[in-house]
Amino acid sequence: MDSLEALKAELNGAVAEAGDLAALDEVRVSALGKKGRITGLMKTLGGMDSDQRREMGQALNVLKDEIAEAIEARKTGLQRAALSARLEAERVDVTMPARPSPSGRLHPISQTIDELTAIFGDMGFRVAEGPDIEDDFHNFTALNFPPGHPARDMHDSFYLPDRADGSKTVLRTHTSPVQVRTMLTEKPPIRIIAPGRTYRSDYDMTHTPVFHQVEGLVIDEATHMGHLKGCLIEFCRAFFDIDDLPLRFRPSFFPFTEPSAEVDIGCSRKGGELKLGNHGDWLEILGCGMVHPNVIRNCGLDPERYQGFAFGMGIERIAMLKYGIPDLRTFFDADLRWLRHYGFAALDMPSMTHGLTR
Ligand code: PHE
Repeated sequence: MDSLEALKAELNGAVAEAGDLAALDEVRVSALGKKGRITGLMKTLGGMDSDQRREMGQALNVLKDEIAEAIEARKTGLQRAALSARLEAERVDVTMPARPSPSGRLHPISQTIDELTAIFGDMGFRVAEGPDIEDDFHNFTALNFPPGHPARDMHDSFYLPDRADGSKTVLRTHTSPVQVRTMLTEKPPIRIIAPGRTYRSDYDMTHTPVFHQVEGLVIDEATHMGHLKGCLIEFCRAFFDIDDLPLRFRPSFFPFTEPSAEVDIGCSRKGGELKLGNHGDWLEILGCGMVHPNVIRNCGLDPERYQGFAFGMGIERIAMLKYGIPDLRTFFDADLRWLRHYGFAALDMPSMTHGLTR
């Protein structure tokens, strides 16, 4: 019995000293395993007489339970300590500066389309779209282009191979065919803008074979030239964010509008630097007019009943003016350094907050 007390003290000491789970398991095996010391003593019970066996058996069972319990308790303690040490070691320092995450930039064309859509959206326009590959009817004929008009020339426009039925297809030279498609499928009142890609066979400082236009179209029974002027004055002032920006409407000619006008905005060119505003000089930015009765008729509407206005402008041009981008060709170079410089963060929409609502 005394030796059992000594064994108990020794095993308890070993349990307390076990510094990790592996050491603790060694203690368990040495005491309770198949060849363990308590197990070994259990095996000697068979050779004892019955009184001694009962007494010794009870004492050994108690010892076995006590040691097993001590091992369990130590195990829990060691696991907790290990977890605390891990939590301590792996703690995140929230005061560290965040690693920069790379983010893309919005191309100035996309940004400009978002901005002008927001402004015209405030005026009740919705966005309409049409295909880049147009047929002769939508791009020219319905828009009142006479048969020999220079824009129909192979040198000025990109034609695709003729269709099987012999009809011609062209990369749209302007967004005006979207007017035609809208009038053919919708009943007035119509109030749309159509931003999108356009194509002409041109390449120099101020012309690229692909560029973007935004078309506007209003058709109803009462819209007149005063509405056209008011709408464009409002748009230009909101877009360029200049409240007193002067606009000048100059008589002009387009086959699809009558009367037609080109619009200039106020600027100054002092010292070779272009500045927008009320400074006495003028800069042309867009074309517009009252939709020609022939166009309205070609689109299946009665020109005696319906009238309205249309306008079209180059998106690169107004983006260059607003954001001080000097060379048109750089829009299409796909140079990341240029995009990082002139591009916009997502959701960076000045006109949403500074547009017409101001
Ligand atoms: N489609 C014309 C162009 O490309 C612009 C325009 C559109 C003019 C609508 C008047 C009315 O030059």
